[in-house]
Amino acid sequence: MNNFGIASLGTVPETLLIPLAARMIAPDRHPDLQFRDGEAARIGTALGFDPARFADDTGSMRGSVIRAQWFDRIAGAFIAAHPTGLCVSIGSGLDDRPARIRLPATVDWIDADFAEVVRLREALISRRDNVRIITVSKTEPLAWIDGIGWQPGRPALVLAEGVFMYLAPATGEDLLRRLVDRAAESGAPLELAADFASPVMVRQSRRNPSLAKTRASFHWAMARPGAVEAIAPGLTLVEHVDIAKRCGTLAWTMARLHQLVTGRPVYFCGHYRYRPCGTPMTGPPTDSA
Ligand SMILES: C[S@@+](CC[C@H](N)C(=O)[O-])C[C@H]1O[C@@H](n2cnc3c(N)ncnc32)[C@H](O)[C@@H]1O
Repeated sequence: MNNFGIASLGTVPETLLIPLAARMIAPDRHPDLQFRDGEAARIGTALGFDPARFADDTGSMRGSVIRAQWFDRIAGAFIAAHPTGLCVSIGSGLDDRPARIRLPATVDWIDADFAEVVRLREALISRRDNVRIITVSKTEPLAWIDGIGWQPGRPALVLAEGVFMYLAPATGEDLLRRLVDRAAESGAPLELAADFASPVMVRQSRRNPSLAKTRASFHWAMARPGAVEAIAPGLTLVEHVDIAKRCGTLAWTMARLHQLVTGRPVYFCGHYRYRPCGTPMTGPPTDSA
């Protein structure tokens, strides 16, 4: 595989190269994070992709790795609690989380992304019996929800890492509600883990040095972690973390200023839970920032 694969990517799918670069260079650039992803290096090399294109954007590179570690932790905890559960990763890009977290064979995993990304995944990522890929339609971006095969009572985790900010707000809000409706219909617990950009981050997205290289921009903003609960009643915030506060001095200063002025995180990962009727709720949400 060479740059032909990269050249086939549209504007938004091309953003998958940003976290891929971060995972490739993490051991050299951010050894303190102790992040290792041998598959990222192998996939990047097979693709003919040089991570130097994004490597100087230290904030995005470090932030992508911290974010990946957060999602790895949430996925690991879900699998430990639900060893026969279902994990659905929306907008997986070229991330091979099942390999990184050593997904047990008892857990089913579904990756969903656009057709050009699915083609690359099929060419570059080793197949596993319990991992399947779904193609997301650009014209009907939520049709995949009905193709998941939700099973009555089966706990599910939906992961959306570096994805929601690219959605039209109405699509994103519809997605959240439809996931809750699905869980309610199948009487199954649902967990959602996603990162969200604040309104200012969405307005300024074209100034992000890595994003500018792909010419993609953000659209869907979330003002605060609790706003998700208001959009999709039934979802309850379990924890959130302000990623920007951990991405170096400049990002920390901007995140701190934003927090002081608005009282809200500038960029956060949120973990939410839906419990079908009759299931006991757990404790109050935590801010792990
Ligand atoms: C920044 S990349 C993140 C990739 C991956 N999650 C990671 O962390 O490496 C954004 C990904 O979301 C995908 N994406 C954007 N909008 C999507 C949608 N509506 N449905 C599914 N995937 C989408 C893109 O194609 C791309 O692969």
